[in-house]
This record gives sequence, C-alpha cells and structure tokens, in this order.
Amino acid sequence: MSSAPPVLEVRDLCLRFHTDQGTVEALDGVNLRVLPGEILGLVGESGCGKTATARAILGVVPAPPGEITGGRILFGGEDLLRLPERELARRIRGRAITLIPQDTLGALNPVFPLRTQLLDVLRWHPPEGDGGLWGLLRRYGRRWRRQALAQILALLRQVQLPDPEGALAKYPHEFSGGQRQRLLIAMALLPNPVLVIADEPTTALDVTIQAQILRLLRRLVKERGTSVLFITHDLGVVARLCDRVTVMYAGQEVETAPTAALFTRPAHPYTQQLLASLPDHRKEELEGIPGVVPSLIDPPRGCRFHTRCSQARPECALTRPPERLLAPGHTVRCHLY
Ligand SMILES: Nc1ncnc2c1ncn2[C@@H]1O[C@H](COP(=O)(O)OP(=O)(O)OP(=O)(O)O)[C@@H](O)[C@H]1O
Ligand SMILES: [Mg+2]
Repeated sequence: MSSAPPVLEVRDLCLRFHTDQGTVEALDGVNLRVLPGEILGLVGESGCGKTATARAILGVVPAPPGEITGGRILFGGEDLLRLPERELARRIRGRAITLIPQDTLGALNPVFPLRTQLLDVLRWHPPEGDGGLWGLLRRYGRRWRRQALAQILALLRQVQLPDPEGALAKYPHEFSGGQRQRLLIAMALLPNPVLVIADEPTTALDVTIQAQILRLLRRLVKERGTSVLFITHDLGVVARLCDRVTVMYAGQEVETAPTAALFTRPAHPYTQQLLASLPDHRKEELEGIPGVVPSLIDPPRGCRFHTRCSQARPECALTRPPERLLAPGHTVRCHLY
C-alpha cells in the first residue's frame, strides 16, 4: 500500500439534479481516493452515480439542473470545486485530468482528419505547460509541428493502431470501434496527464477486443505512472484491470478494498450480493439482488441499501454508517461492523 498522498481525493461529495419530477439526490456524501500510479475501479449498478462523480471531478456537471451542494475534490492540493472555470479549463480538464469516454464517435470531430485533432490536443494542452500567448504562437510554427507529429506517431504506435502514418489523414468514421477506442486512449495520454478518467470505455466492444484494449491500457499507464479512475459496472473488468475498487450504491460509496480482498472477502452486504449475482457457468440460474434500486428522489435515509438488505437493523434506516477499517486498505460503511 502506497503511503504517498493521493492524487485525487473526493470527500463527502453531494450532488443534486433539480427536475420537474423533484430533486434527484444523485450523490450523497461520496468519498474516494486515487493513489499515485494506481488504477481505481469505481463500480456499481446503473444510475448509482458513477458518471455524475466523474463529471463533478472534471467540472462539467450541467448546472442547471445539476447543483453540487457539498464536499471537496482535492487534486494536487487544490479543491477543484473552488477553482474558477478559467483555471479548470487551462490547467486541469483535458490537461492534468483527461477522459476516455464511452462514445468513441461522439468524442471525435467528424469533419477534421485525425492529424488536426491530435495536434490540437497538444497545442491547447501541451505537457510542458501553455507558456501564455507566446507559447501558443510558437505552437503554430513548423518546428513545433514536426516535433508534435513525432510525439503523436510514437503514441499511436504504442496503442498499436495499424498504419499510424496513414491513420493521421483519416477521418473518425474510417476507423472501427476498437481502433477508435485505441485512438481515444492515445488522445487521453497525449498531454501526459496525472489522472485519466475512463467511463465505461470498452462496453460497446466485443469481449476479445475489450480484453486486448484493457491489457494495453493497463500496460501503458503502468509504464507512465499515470493514475486511472476506471468506471464500470462490470466486475470481470475490475478483476482484470484494477488495483483497488470502490463500490457505490445509489449515490453513496459503501466499500473500498484492494481488488483481491474485495473478491475474496467482500464485507458490505451489497458487495456480497453483487458478487453472488455474477454469472457462473456452474450455476443453473442467475441470482439477482432482490428488490430494485430506490428512486433518488426522496431516497431511503441512513444506509441507502437498507431497503434491500437481508441483514438490515433499525439503525440502518436512521444513520449512514461511518467508515470502518477492516484490514489495511479495506474499509466498509455498514452497521454490521
Ligand atoms: N442531467 C441530469 N438530470 C437529471 N438527473 C440526472 C442527470 N444526470 C444524471 N441524473 C441522475 O443522477 C443519477 C446518477 O446518474 P449517473 O449517470 O451518474 O449514473 P451511472 O452510475 O453513471 O449509471 P450508468 O451505469 O447507467 O452509466 C441517476 O439517478 C440519474 O438519473
Ligand atoms: Mg454512467
């Protein structure tokens, strides 16, 4: 376990969406930390607030209807929630923190060839810092362009895109889904970020391509020492890719552990049920978790899982359990402990 300070620390993050149906309490005191050079998995069922957490970190929560009502997002000693939008755009988003999105076609501009789009990433988010107006002017020069293209080609080779030179002249729709995913990994690594957030990047791909791309991503970030916040609902992906995992349920984090510990000694009843509902070829039937995810408009008080928990006690409906340390790096929020 690394004792270096975390790269990112989200503390008690609260986020609401004001809708015509009522106020959606999407995040209710979310806590997570990403350590230097590690891949943290953020898992949970659809609607539990994974993307909302990522958006809050990147400073792109649509407001309205979104409103961050509390918490801190500490990154390199700064609270990103207190940082002016100008600073976020200049130093953080797309530069120190980049995103690998799920929608590969939507993330690329259809009217420009790849060369233009990749040069623009480096032009606007140069790894060495932007250097003000003079820096920008320099980045329209020929010498800069030649060096930048060399850097881009090297990265395209690293993500194993076939024919990198030829690829630069192509448009986004001329690549396959798997190739576009490789491109977006290259694009996210190009500014040499401290943290990459990946939001379900491989869910649209078939399993063999998915496995290749995850292996590639893991190798590249480990080589560079880049930290990753990897969002997924797929525990199989977590097992293969992540060093540690934080499990979310209905807008709250319930358990955090090193990946092996989470799979062998899951502590929270929700985590246990999530693992029990993994498809198992030895079992006849698929087990699900009884009940449904509660509405986040007027959600259950206390531990939000208590309405579906077979071990719930009266206090579970009253107060949210504090974080308990079970083993080094393994914490749970449950009144049973
Ligand atoms: N723009 C919005 N307006 C209103 N409600 C929203 C908005 N965006 C998200 N929500 C709500 O916030 C909650 C969390 O959504 P979020 O997209 O973070 O879930 P998720 O964990 O990423 O799910 P999935 O696995 O399906 O991507 C959900 O209840 C969702 O309906
Ligand atoms: Mg999502």
